[in-house]
Amino acid sequence: MSGHVEISREGAVEILRLNRPEKKNALTAAMYAALAEALNSANANDEVAVTVIFGQPGAFCAGNDIADFLAASQGGAIVHGFAFLKALVECDKPLIAAADGPAVGIGTTLMFHCDMVFVSPRAVLQTPFVDLGLVPEAGSSLLGPRVLGHARAFELLVMGAPWSAEQAKEAGLVNAIVPSEELESVALEAADALAKKPREGARLARRLLKGDPASLKKRMEEECALLIERVKSSEAVAAFAAFLKKSARPAL
Ligand code: COA
Repeated sequence: MSGHVEISREGAVEILRLNRPEKKNALTAAMYAALAEALNSANANDEVAVTVIFGQPGAFCAGNDIADFLAASQGGAIVHGFAFLKALVECDKPLIAAADGPAVGIGTTLMFHCDMVFVSPRAVLQTPFVDLGLVPEAGSSLLGPRVLGHARAFELLVMGAPWSAEQAKEAGLVNAIVPSEELESVALEAADALAKKPREGARLARRLLKGDPASLKKRMEEECALLIERVKSSEAVAAFAAFLKKSARPAL
């Protein structure tokens, strides 16, 4: 388990809290593994009805750790969190996310797997995959156009446009914008309301709305194969080094 992911329970609601604020909750291999394990065990546990993902005040998740990407490009193990992505697809219970700050890369794309998303006015959603020499991941190349329509998915996933809380809500990715100080309690109220619904009914309804996971898993595998190639490309290596030297940051 990673100390950078805190796991707690309130009634039938499992809470996964990213806790690496010094790096804006960028995800390491250990964090991906902890998230995968937590989601899988919540899925298998009859006492859990709903899972909620929180970040920290002012930072939801800065995406994959770019130092890990750079290490992978130089021959290190590739960290792409596939076990976590698989756990997201296989999760058969409602998922809620609440973001009170930047949600970059997987910080945004995990929202496509959620059933409800709440953000504060200081949330900014961005997926600078192409600017990093990479491709969209976490099934977002399939779910993005489905949820947003092609034009808006392209704007987010290819152009890398940073979206404000308002834009994300207007695009249909976010349920509600809530003041920072009320964000977690609003998300927990929604989770509690969901947990009180007939469990099997909620599970079946969610599955119908989400559709067949097989095509999503297949797309994730395709994205992952491309990512593994792209992470070593000269375009990507230059972008990772520039980020870590602070010379080229996405303008959020
Ligand atoms: N990987 C590794 N380190 C990261 C990181 C990431 N994805 N995101 C942030 N950090 C680190 C920064 O390098 C910095 O470390 P330092 O204090 O040791 O220099 C620290 O977290 C704080 O980040 P900083 O950029 O100073 O904070 P900010 O508030 O100005 O900006 C973000 C926050 C999230 C907008 C910005 O950090 C960012 O754009 N991060 C990269 C996001 C990204 O491209 N992720 C990959 C997507 S596939």
